[in-house]
Amino acid sequence: MADNSIGRKFRISSFGESHGKIIGVLIDGIPAGLDLNLEFIQNELNKRKPGQSKLTTERKEDDEFTILSGIFNNKTTGAPICLVIENKDKDSSKYEKFKHILRPSHVDYSALKRYGGFADFRGSGRFSGRITAGFVMAGAIAKQILNLLDINMIAYTQSIGEIEDFENYESHDIRKLMEKREKSLARTLNPKISEKMELLIQNIKNQKDSLGGTIQCLVKNFPAGVGGPVFNSLESDLAKGIFSIPAVKGIEFGAGFKSAKMKGSEHNDPWKVDNNSITTTKNDSGGIIGGISTGMPISFRVAIKPTASIGKKQKTVDIKNMKNIELELEGRHDPCILPRAVVIVEAITSVILVDHLICQGKIPEIINNDEAN
Ligand SMILES: Cc1cc2nc3c(=O)[nH]c(=O)nc-3n(C[C@H](O)[C@H](O)[C@H](O)COP(=O)(O)O)c2cc1C
Repeated sequence: MADNSIGRKFRISSFGESHGKIIGVLIDGIPAGLDLNLEFIQNELNKRKPGQSKLTTERKEDDEFTILSGIFNNKTTGAPICLVIENKDKDSSKYEKFKHILRPSHVDYSALKRYGGFADFRGSGRFSGRITAGFVMAGAIAKQILNLLDINMIAYTQSIGEIEDFENYESHDIRKLMEKREKSLARTLNPKISEKMELLIQNIKNQKDSLGGTIQCLVKNFPAGVGGPVFNSLESDLAKGIFSIPAVKGIEFGAGFKSAKMKGSEHNDPWKVDNNSITTTKNDSGGIIGGISTGMPISFRVAIKPTASIGKKQKTVDIKNMKNIELELEGRHDPCILPRAVVIVEAITSVILVDHLICQGKIPEIINNDEAN
């Protein structure tokens, strides 16, 4: 399987399968001398790990990571960093039983056509949300680089089903928003909306069904002038990274699809100068114009589909007997992926932003190298 890497100069490669021995990530292009906070990496993993609340899958994994290379005396060496996590709670029995049955809106048919039946189907193998633990580890390192530059971000659940938070949080303090988000099992920012979302997820779980929603991501203090037009634009690279997260079905920057219905006079973001600093009075562009950052908050929204594996009866095909059948799936599934996905969105965003900053020489190849000198 090719194409498991992303990034030009800060490049991450994903490997492992859901029920294999390990999952992990290889990170190349990392500056030397970075004083890594390993506890931060674990905390980020804990926000993604399964079994963390009543709203997630019951699969129980510690998701404790091991460093295989690239870190010496607690600092990055400039060599590739390899981080792995052992898969411990593997129950492949349910998958064996349903091996010949195509789960609707899951990868079984497309993967069969692509890999001729050789792909590891246990726990959805390479297609599992589990591979995103590797994204989160890489993102936790990228985030520490962004923090050094005072660039901070938050992704949060903006809607689940019909329940939506319409507030624009661009002017809010990210640290305070983060505190609010981490008090919410749905990982949203408004406690009242969170309660409704939690109830909704619990109800849909009881009905053996699932729900999707949207995640809003905000990045503040990202410098103007990063990116470029055409194929490696900031928008295209972010979109490509975000679409690598399983279950993502859409992304829109700023006003996004709403902009198609707006007049130029409504959509245009007026420029203003204040104390020699240029900003816009609103941000329907989402902080990117011409594929290049404007210095306004980078703001985008991600659509996540309802989890495909549901216990409810569904029509499908048994490909062994070539028969139309009805399927009632067993197994441990997320009734709604969003509460676990916010940190994955942040992780991929961090990786892409750091890659762009390094490509433009905005991050030195050696960071914090006092002791080395
Ligand atoms: C954190 C996370 C957890 C997921 N959990 C499940 C799950 O329990 N059941 C499921 O059917 N899909 C789950 N998915 C999504 C599938 O992996 C994904 O829908 C599938 O591989 C098909 O890919 P696509 O939806 O991107 O086309 C999860 C995704 C993520 C990011």
